[in-house]
Amino acid sequence: MYEILDVQQDGNIAIVTINRPKALNALNQQTLTELRHLFSEDLPKREDLSGVILTGAGEKAFVAGADIKEFTGISDDEQGAKMARNGHEIFFLIEEFSKPVIAAVNGFALGGGCELAMACHMRVASENARFGQPEVNLGIIPGYGGTQRLVQYIGKGKAMELMLTADMIKANEAHRLGLVNHVVPKGEAVAKAKEILTKISTKGPVAVAKVIESINAYFQNGVDGFEREVEKFGTTTATKDFQEGAAAFIEKRPANFQGC
Ligand code: CAA
Repeated sequence: MYEILDVQQDGNIAIVTINRPKALNALNQQTLTELRHLFSEDLPKREDLSGVILTGAGEKAFVAGADIKEFTGISDDEQGAKMARNGHEIFFLIEEFSKPVIAAVNGFALGGGCELAMACHMRVASENARFGQPEVNLGIIPGYGGTQRLVQYIGKGKAMELMLTADMIKANEAHRLGLVNHVVPKGEAVAKAKEILTKISTKGPVAVAKVIESINAYFQNGVDGFEREVEKFGTTTATKDFQEGAAAFIEKRPANFQGC
């Protein structure tokens, strides 16, 4: 079904590998189309899914950015804006996905690759990972949400420096700055992401989805995040899972959540 994405089911977790290692997994139009289909059509139908891991093929790169070789036809502002809008739509699908999505960053995460990792709910990086927004080297700016999300993660001053200098940072520095949740030895990022998702899979699925929605609300223009929290708290209290979770606590046993 997919030419570039390799989608494997590991228990209730989907492991999605962007598989263009010769191009350091750069995001060409085909990859973006497949990601859109995956997160809008395919994964939402998998009711047993508890989470998604996104990674890159090979040992060198997560994703080295948008595919620069496809830039040659772009020469006017409308074409460029259309490209950015397409990327935004797809990355919002990931950010707003109701199950947790973790980027297992196994190497370079540059430009659109760093932006893709930032659209995920968490990032686990291997020690050899490198992060950066080097678009100014090409005479453009980040176009898949980087100017907004990098500020959210690391603050304005450092984001300004990274995007203006095009400097790359190592995994440990990304961790220190708050861009990355965990740094693990090379080759262990997917395993660590799996460990986190396995833990989350024991929690109430509706609650997990509503945490994601409520946290995202903090960053949405014109949305009152506190009001969103009130609304989603109400939604979760109306679930059978809430009855089960409270009963399990009182009866000193693990909860058996049904996702409703
Ligand atoms: N697009 C297309 N191809 C890419 C690519 C990209 N973003 N990044 C790497 N490749 C290709 C290279 O062209 C090369 O292919 P060939 O062998 O066919 O020439 C192959 O991947 C291996 O790359 P290198 O030989 O360059 O490997 P390296 O180890 O010397 O360097 C690197 C690695 C530092 C990541 C370097 O490849 C690089 O700087 N890549 C570009 C990074 C970049 O500028 N990303 C931002 C893109 S713009 C963007 O993403 C805009 C946006 O916000 C939407």
